[in-house]
Amino acid sequence: AEGDAAAGESVFRKCQACHAVGEGARNKVGPQLNGVVGREAASVEGYRYSKAAMEKAPETGAWTTEGLMVYLEDPSAYLGGRSKMAFKLRDEQERADVIAYLATFNAD
Ligand code: HEM
Repeated sequence: AEGDAAAGESVFRKCQACHAVGEGARNKVGPQLNGVVGREAASVEGYRYSKAAMEKAPETGAWTTEGLMVYLEDPSAYLGGRSKMAFKLRDEQERADVIAYLATFNAD
């Protein structure tokens, strides 16, 4: 189903312990997520990614909705090695919604 950005704002509460998005967003446990849809994987300045994330980045290229759908379901499985992101968003609709929410931070 299509992602619903408004619903995704609520889903993002699950991410907020580790991620910030929006004006002035800084890296926390995880990298800031401004413009992440279309952003090159593992490319945030000053953020130290896992080895698995760095090795997978050239293959991922710029994050797409489709790639993020797979990544968020199981980051380590997607990366083919141990991700620093030990969180899985199992619900497909929640994944679509949170990605739609993140995509609203692309044009700022
Ligand atoms: C990485 C999204 C929840 C910690 C990432 C990346 C995305 C993302 C897209 C890759 C960023 C890039 O390539 O620059 C999300 C979303 C979440 C979520 C949408 C909620 C649904 C969490 C939580 C934690 C976390 C709860 C901490 C417990 C991290 C870490 C990384 C990361 C440490 C770096 C991964 C690595 O280097 O392997 N996250 N995340 N994330 N996230 Fe999350």
